[in-house]
Amino acid sequence: MNIKSEFAEILFEALGGKVDKSKLILMIEHPKFANLGDLAFPCFELAKLFRKPPQKIAHELVQVMKTPLFEKVEVVGSYLNVFLHKEKVTQSVIEQVIAQKGHYGNLSIGTNKVMTIDYSSPNIAKPFSMGHLRSTVIGNSLALISEKSGFNVLRINHLGDWGTQFGKLIVAYKLWGDEEEVKQQPIKELLKLYVRFHEEAHNSPQLEDDARAWFKRLENADSGAVALWEWFRDESLQEFAKIYDLMGIHFDSYNGEAFYNDKMDKVVKILEELDLLQESEGAQIVSLEGLPPCLIKKSDGTTLYATRDLAAAIYRQEAYQFDQSLYVVGNEQTLHFKQLFALLDKMGYKWQQGMKHVAFGMMLKDGKKMSTRKGKVVLLEEVLNEAISLALEDIKQKNPNLGDKEEIARQVGTGAVIFHDLKNFRQNDIEFSLEDMLKFEGETGPYVQYSHARASSLLRKGNFTAKNAAIHIPDEAAWSIIMILNGFPETINKSLEEYDPSQIAKYVIELARAFNKYYGAVRILDDVDLKQQRLTLVYAVKIVLKEGLRLLGLKAPEEM
Ligand code: ARG
Repeated sequence: MNIKSEFAEILFEALGGKVDKSKLILMIEHPKFANLGDLAFPCFELAKLFRKPPQKIAHELVQVMKTPLFEKVEVVGSYLNVFLHKEKVTQSVIEQVIAQKGHYGNLSIGTNKVMTIDYSSPNIAKPFSMGHLRSTVIGNSLALISEKSGFNVLRINHLGDWGTQFGKLIVAYKLWGDEEEVKQQPIKELLKLYVRFHEEAHNSPQLEDDARAWFKRLENADSGAVALWEWFRDESLQEFAKIYDLMGIHFDSYNGEAFYNDKMDKVVKILEELDLLQESEGAQIVSLEGLPPCLIKKSDGTTLYATRDLAAAIYRQEAYQFDQSLYVVGNEQTLHFKQLFALLDKMGYKWQQGMKHVAFGMMLKDGKKMSTRKGKVVLLEEVLNEAISLALEDIKQKNPNLGDKEEIARQVGTGAVIFHDLKNFRQNDIEFSLEDMLKFEGETGPYVQYSHARASSLLRKGNFTAKNAAIHIPDEAAWSIIMILNGFPETINKSLEEYDPSQIAKYVIELARAFNKYYGAVRILDDVDLKQQRLTLVYAVKIVLKEGLRLLGLKAPEEM
């Protein structure tokens, strides 16, 4: 068992079960100075509940703090300060890591529960922008973290493959498009047409009406409109697939907005039956308490993004019976999701309580939002390829004899880009900087990958096998690593609760740093007596680094 859980367990018993274990775990602190112990528990908060001075509570608790993992427990003021039994704790931690390997840190919170995660969800006929990178990598990591926590996860790519923009694109293609050119470079050409549409519509507003008319024809399954739409969609999907392959990302469903085209009537009917629909200037709306009304149908009878999301939510509940349903979508859509959830609530669907908008900040360029319409985008595929070729150069220089350089360069290059995003708390805006993204030192993915490769190389040189593991603390310097390893399960728990992969990114950096410090301070292979214990520690570090990287969507090469 994890030490903090064990500590919380003892406190729980001692307090007569009056304070939740999960709350107790959160109350446990790490003292700033080592001479104050390894863990500390403040009793202030308990004073009110037990109507006793906190010092008194501390003195009572200290009597029952008995576990082989604790060497001694002291009362200092209102604190219980715990000094861990280093040898015993080391044995317990290392034993768990080695026995459980990639399963170390698995949780059971999500057992028998279903979670859908809607992420990436790019828009057809537009380039996969850096903006969509955020949703893709955050969503992918959350899917992995949730799976590790026991959830049955369904990954959904809610493609933006429907809407008035397809009317615009059809108009633009019919006016200025060239079939051959589109076939050559589909996304670039389609983007050009889209940008041109907006430029020209500025002076000829009639174009907007034409676009609406074409979208209406599309919704009515006009064969000419549908054929163009399908073509644009297929070409786009092929381009997106290249990016997902590069990053090793997959989905269980590509049911995008168009999928709900024939499922919206039913939803509109339910709204009618519930007497929720109102007419407003020819459009159909539902009014919501404390929020702007939700637009369900425009005056020309066409549906909207919100209508499709409403149908999608109901469909997903029917198809998957989700307990939790996440939407990994930027901050700009906060109002949209508030309206969606409020509307479902108004319709009487209790399951909407399991829905959550996992919002994130913007990817800025020169402090400004990137916009597809003005053609101001950075193409993700170009960024990934640039990162991969830089990684390849680096490898050729540093390790010319390495086998399969291309594959490792792919792992390191994409790792740099993914980690650069995930190390930031998702709500923060990120300034796009290719230079920062491609740095391989400091707080980066390649730095962690490199630390993992170093651990692997030590194990090879020392002929280590798990069978000859020696589970003891080799030296004082190893202690900080043991404590970090011990903290892995709770880091996963926190990242799950806060939908925040950056906790894991920070964790692997901390572990890699501690390991590199140890590597610099101790000659791991030199001391015959201690070698096996030290390698066992290195082996545990390797397991946890690899698993941490995996949860972020990064590979951990054995050599690089
Ligand atoms: N395609 C949308 C966009 O790029 C994101 C879709 C998010 N998912 C959803 N169910 N609304 O802005």
